Amino acid sequence: MSAELTGQVAIVTGGASGIGRATVLGLIQAGATVAVLDRDEAGVNAVVEQGKQAGGKTVAFPFDLANSKQIPDVVARVLQQLGRIDILINCAGVTGRFQSLLEMEEDNWDFVQAVNLKAAMLMMKHVARHIIDRGGGGRIVNISSSSAFRARNSPIAYASSKAALVQLTRSTAAELGPHNINVNAVAPGITATAMTKALGDAEALQKAASSGPLENLFHRVAQPEDVAAAIVFLCLPGSRQITGQTIHTSAGAVV
Ligand SMILES: NC(=O)c1ccc[n+]([C@@H]2O[C@H](COP(=O)([O-])OP(=O)(O)OC[C@H]3O[C@@H](n4cnc5c(N)ncnc54)[C@H](O)[C@@H]3O)[C@@H](O)[C@H]2O)c1
Repeated sequence: MSAELTGQVAIVTGGASGIGRATVLGLIQAGATVAVLDRDEAGVNAVVEQGKQAGGKTVAFPFDLANSKQIPDVVARVLQQLGRIDILINCAGVTGRFQSLLEMEEDNWDFVQAVNLKAAMLMMKHVARHIIDRGGGGRIVNISSSSAFRARNSPIAYASSKAALVQLTRSTAAELGPHNINVNAVAPGITATAMTKALGDAEALQKAASSGPLENLFHRVAQPEDVAAAIVFLCLPGSRQITGQTIHTSAGAVV
């Protein structure tokens, strides 16, 4: 087990499933203690158990990020239980209902922006405040999407929230740079998780990766671990000169 993140504490939102779960396991392999934050309580407990069995320290924080007023409290609870926060991974995300502009219902738009964008911003705000107060030095990774870079075949509320997250990453990197906080984004393409079950079974996913607007250069569906590898890299000492960037793990789907 690499020890590069030993002594560091990470929060992974959306840590109960898919890319978030793979990231939790990747971070504990690198030695970090991980706060698993997700609205799916049973999923959180399962990942915490998995983390412990892998020899890591994982702590459960069941929480719905749509409750924006309670975000300062959940960050304070992580601090109280784990003593510090060094790394924040904003991975929780929702697609919302697949509506075009002309179909768009305001509650659908607001819900998607609240979880994918506003909650990520508030988590960054409260975590960054703590990091600055303890003298600076930390990593933030926001999970965007190849949908942010493509005009067709993505729900527009989702694609817009993920594009805004890229700009939020850039702007925040500029603000937090003087505090030695790296802020980057990762933009996955089609990845086999609960979220892409909506696209169909494994065969349907493979077809989408092989032809049509979601096609990638390898005709390969990513696994959550493929994305987690990029996220974990952005938390390791070797990536210290990288900030304000978006790393694409979509196998060239949007080159
Ligand atoms: N799977 C893909 O193809 C793909 C592609 C591009 C981007 N992404 C992004 O990757 C991230 C992870 O998604 P995934 O594919 O692992 O999907 P997933 O559905 O397996 O995981 C998403 C997690 O976010 C949690 N979550 C959702 N809303 C929440 C809320 N209000 N509060 C707390 N937790 C909440 C869910 O409970 C779930 O555990 C998302 O931001 C998604 O938009 C995924």
